[in-house]
Amino acid sequence: MAKLTTHPSWQALCQHQIEMRDIQMRDLFKQDPKRFETFSLIVDDILLDYSKHRITDETLKHLFQLARDSDIEQWRQRMFSGEKINITEHRAVLHTALRNRSNTPVYVDGKDVMPDVNAVLTQMRGFTEQVRGGQWTGYTGKRITDVVNIGIGGSDLGPVMACDALKPYASPDLKAHFVSNIDGAHLMRVLESCNPETTLFIVASKTFTTQETMTNAHSARRWFLNAAKQEQHVAKHFVALSTNATAVKAFGIDTNNMFAFWDWVGGRYSLWSAIGLSIALYVGMDNFEQLLAGGHAMDQHFQTAPLEQNMPVIMALLGIWYNNFFHVDTHAILPYDQGMSRFAAYLQQADMESNGKFICRDGTRVTYKTGPVIWGEAGTNGQHAFYQLIHQGTQIVPADFLMPANSHYQVGEPEDQHHKILLANFLAQTQALMLGKTRDEARAELEKQGLSGEALESLLPHKVFEGNRPTTSIVFKQLTPYTLGKLIALYEHKIFVQGILWDINSYDQWGVEYGKQIASQILPQLNTPEAVHSFDGSTNGLINYAKKLSQ
Ligand code: F6P
Repeated sequence: MAKLTTHPSWQALCQHQIEMRDIQMRDLFKQDPKRFETFSLIVDDILLDYSKHRITDETLKHLFQLARDSDIEQWRQRMFSGEKINITEHRAVLHTALRNRSNTPVYVDGKDVMPDVNAVLTQMRGFTEQVRGGQWTGYTGKRITDVVNIGIGGSDLGPVMACDALKPYASPDLKAHFVSNIDGAHLMRVLESCNPETTLFIVASKTFTTQETMTNAHSARRWFLNAAKQEQHVAKHFVALSTNATAVKAFGIDTNNMFAFWDWVGGRYSLWSAIGLSIALYVGMDNFEQLLAGGHAMDQHFQTAPLEQNMPVIMALLGIWYNNFFHVDTHAILPYDQGMSRFAAYLQQADMESNGKFICRDGTRVTYKTGPVIWGEAGTNGQHAFYQLIHQGTQIVPADFLMPANSHYQVGEPEDQHHKILLANFLAQTQALMLGKTRDEARAELEKQGLSGEALESLLPHKVFEGNRPTTSIVFKQLTPYTLGKLIALYEHKIFVQGILWDINSYDQWGVEYGKQIASQILPQLNTPEAVHSFDGSTNGLINYAKKLSQ
């Protein structure tokens, strides 16, 4: 594949950025009363408004050309058809098969994976119905009241985020807890509120070797046996979600209580697999299947819509526009929905673990920026924390605002104002970021407040907002399982498109592996009383100081 920066469309975009860099969005809106209609798109109930971006028809023309020059349609076909596009691990990338509700065959190494996918879904349905129905009981015959998912990264963030988002659909009889951090505080704080007789542990780990998860799982097992006494009771209280049956068995979990998935499911794309068991227990299998159906609907849109009307493609290209041509390093995720308060954290792993890479697929170094820093917070909390910088800081922070038109919660009588206030804040922020406030407008405002002379002049510069700050608005009817499925898949495909354009492998994570490797070299040193000299000066110093303090 030709290098990204050699495409004529890349060169055209470099030139075009020079023309665009001083253009004001407020002027673009004045010139074109139909700008919103031109730069917005609806898929089912999801509206994508990308009119508040520093773009024109010409910008998009070049960006779509860049996508075509990068063979995006062919790569999309390769992913969906099970080709091993994860080249460093020699794996297919088929999280889309997990939510393939059309059930059409999907082949890996000549074998249709759909019968296995469907068998695990059937197993999950049987198990969740037994637990939720009270037929699956703990060792003293009591029904399960608490589910503790022990996992980390992709084996944690998706289920945490989805359970929080879908709380309105949850069973009141079952609480879901999540333990990920190796810090013992995480496990102990959860166990404080659990009863061993009625607690079910889900050990969620693709590899079943991850240090944090295995340590937490062993500690949970000891806590449980401290009460239950007999090993045979473990079978009723521990299930595993993994690709590694041997390690599951070695841990002492009956493989009948193991829910399998496969190496073609990347950790950060795994909530659609057995890793979603905690979600299915919490909201029921029907709702879990709705989540899958939403993901599948977005897959079909992504696969069939022309690039110009393709939501994930548009979002990806807007990101490329700022990242690579305005040299922006950051991207904020701002959901105006309390249930989505973990959505930014979820996308941090999905995006940054996927596209935080500096090596091209052919092993050479990239000569352009790749993944931005993803971060965010639920509105309106973020407004009272970091929005100041987005409004008046020195850098551009492109931001996605996500807004459900309806809440699941009605608060207060006679009319609930909470959601209207939330909606008004979302609308106000995106408008203010785009429009800004000119010097003349700020002056008029201050004069109206009775200020004049020196008092006015000294305050004036502080009251000016440059505006022209880009935002995407994503508005949908309500945060249902189906819609959440669509939103997650939307971002997954955005990440895919950007990874292809940047010519990197979005599906490995050697950086994380490297950290794990070093930690395993350091750990034995912490168990000896002697001073350590074998690492670099700073690491030796830190180890020795920590040892001294813990004596
Ligand atoms: O964070 C690195 C990582 O390998 C993720 O990709 C993965 O989701 C996580 O660790 C947990 O891995 P496992 O599911 O194998 O325990």
